[in-house]
Amino acid sequence: MHEIDNIVILTGAGISAESGLNTFRAADGLWEGHRVEDVATPEAFLRDPDLVHEFYDVRRKRLGEVEPNAAHVALARLDAEWPGELLIVTQNVDDLHERAGAKRLLHMHGELLQGWCLRCDERFGWAGALGEGAACPRCQTHGMVRPDIVWFGEMPYGMERIEAALLEADLFVSIGTSGAVYPAAGFVQTAKYRAARTLEINLEPSQGSIFFDERRFGLASAEVPRWVDETLF
Ligand code: APR
Repeated sequence: MHEIDNIVILTGAGISAESGLNTFRAADGLWEGHRVEDVATPEAFLRDPDLVHEFYDVRRKRLGEVEPNAAHVALARLDAEWPGELLIVTQNVDDLHERAGAKRLLHMHGELLQGWCLRCDERFGWAGALGEGAACPRCQTHGMVRPDIVWFGEMPYGMERIEAALLEADLFVSIGTSGAVYPAAGFVQTAKYRAARTLEINLEPSQGSIFFDERRFGLASAEVPRWVDETLF
């Protein structure tokens, strides 16, 4: 096995499930009681901004009620102790990786605790409700702020940096994602261009399971700490 120096990790909603945050495709594909098209697209925001704001306000408020779990803590430890290159790319918009201490982290789908002013393009931290009450801290415009979340049909953040990291990776690890949504679902293929080793850690086989050299099935809170212990040993 060639030396592992450069690790890229992709996480999805499954890593936050045991912290109490719902995943997207567990039940009948409803997302907190909504169809995705009704709350996670630019068209939905134009059509019914209050519904979209309410949907994200409820999820943003929920962040204050949950804690990182052992999987987030283990990845933060790996980040702190791994001497080589490491990048955690998360599809999640929660702040649990940060709260566990992760530093080398990229939110490709944006963040619940961030607002985006449609008037002056400023992005800013925001912990409260973003509905009509929010004013942009830079241009003071009211009612022209959206969640800084990447909706369906929009370009994820950091794609150049992610692709460069994947092409340099010796090991690509996918944790807690169903492999249902691109471009994240294609990262394993990009990593394999450079013959990186690939590992999937998930509750059950993802849609891309067959592309991984190794697969570990189980709860992230058990499997991720175990993998990190092995990797740092
Ligand atoms: N431990 C490990 N894996 C788990 C756990 C757990 N405790 N609980 C659930 N999982 C797995 C599920 O088996 C599933 O494969 O996590 C995966 C979650 O998949 P999704 O709900 O589809 O979430 P995700 O893959 O992150 O969705 C990707 O889709 O809706 C968009 O933008 C949204 O970022 C999201 C993207």
